Amino acid sequence: MADRDTLLKILDLARWAPSGDNTQPWRFEIVSDTHIAIHGHDTRDWCVYDFRGYASHIAHGALLETLRIAASDVGLKATWALRKGSTDVAPIYDVSLQHTADIKRDPLLAFVESRAVQRRPMSTTPLTDEQKTALTNAVGEDFELSFFESGKMKRRVAKLLWDSAYLRLTCPEAYEVHKRVIEWGARFSEDKIPEEAVGVDAVTAKLMRWVMQSWARVAFFNTYLAGTIAPRIQLDVLPAMRCAAHVLMTPRRTPTEFLDYVRVGEAMQRLWLTVASLGLHLQPEMTPVIFRWYAQNGASITADRSMDAASARLAGKFDALSGRASDESVVFFCRVGKAPNPVSRSLRMALRTLLQPD
Ligand SMILES: Cc1cc2nc3c(=O)[nH]c(=O)nc-3n(C[C@H](O)[C@H](O)[C@H](O)COP(=O)(O)O)c2cc1C
Repeated sequence: MADRDTLLKILDLARWAPSGDNTQPWRFEIVSDTHIAIHGHDTRDWCVYDFRGYASHIAHGALLETLRIAASDVGLKATWALRKGSTDVAPIYDVSLQHTADIKRDPLLAFVESRAVQRRPMSTTPLTDEQKTALTNAVGEDFELSFFESGKMKRRVAKLLWDSAYLRLTCPEAYEVHKRVIEWGARFSEDKIPEEAVGVDAVTAKLMRWVMQSWARVAFFNTYLAGTIAPRIQLDVLPAMRCAAHVLMTPRRTPTEFLDYVRVGEAMQRLWLTVASLGLHLQPEMTPVIFRWYAQNGASITADRSMDAASARLAGKFDALSGRASDESVVFFCRVGKAPNPVSRSLRMALRTLLQPD
């Protein structure tokens, strides 16, 4: 049995799990001394990046894994099960907490709060074999990691991200998301991405902020003033070249249900925390993965279908680069490397906001 304060302490740490655009698609309920319910939701109704809710499901997995790690600090073993009858749109994960004699404090515990996305250029010092082995072990047997490390491969990834960013910056649906998730003029943000963590210099940020006040301005800038160039160089090309490696995570079994993405999230969080434990940083590079999900499922990223051909071409390039067949599954893509801790980062909503009232 754990008292309520212990459960609050666990949840207070677990809420540091990462989520796409810091959306934190979860609410917590303390049901009893041994039972926490996680009420998940997703953002697919307004966020073009949350294809079928997969990005949120990955975040749910990251939260559940972080909760498990946090519980180990107080000698509790946390196991979860999807509540019967709950669906991918509003999944409820019932977490059971039990004292067991053999539970050890998880070594990743120390990095739960300090882990943060690094969107700025990193050192190109290659990963050592020991580091790659640690990362491969972190994701477990259900997933495989591929490392793209040579200058040639980094250039191919840079080109992929360049093309992907063009779609991202010229798609009205994505514009609505960017407008909603960036907190302008901020270094820290509880429920968004603060401007300084976006990864562009101050002048470009100022310009982006002004341009992004209306879609008409964005469209004009993109068409006549090469508006996508500066952000794409700073957000995609430079970071792609300036890292130790790009890392692709693929599942050994094709996902067939949404819970498979929750399991991706558990492995992703172990990978990210292990990166932090090695003194390295990570930035997810999920846009090409997400656009590939659209292409694989014959879905359009924009209402008028005008980008279908471009997203299919992008998926083809991703397949060629990664050596995957078009029907194979790709679930997480990121870059890693040594870098200073980011001075600006996303914070989290207060625990009392995330807790459902009794
Ligand atoms: C499923 C998922 C997808 C993400 N995709 C991206 C991405 O494509 N690019 C990026 O810069 N950050 C991405 N992130 C990082 C989030 O924006 C970040 O984790 C969140 O804002 C919280 O910030 P923190 O990780 O610094 O605590 C992603 C995170 C998750 C969990």
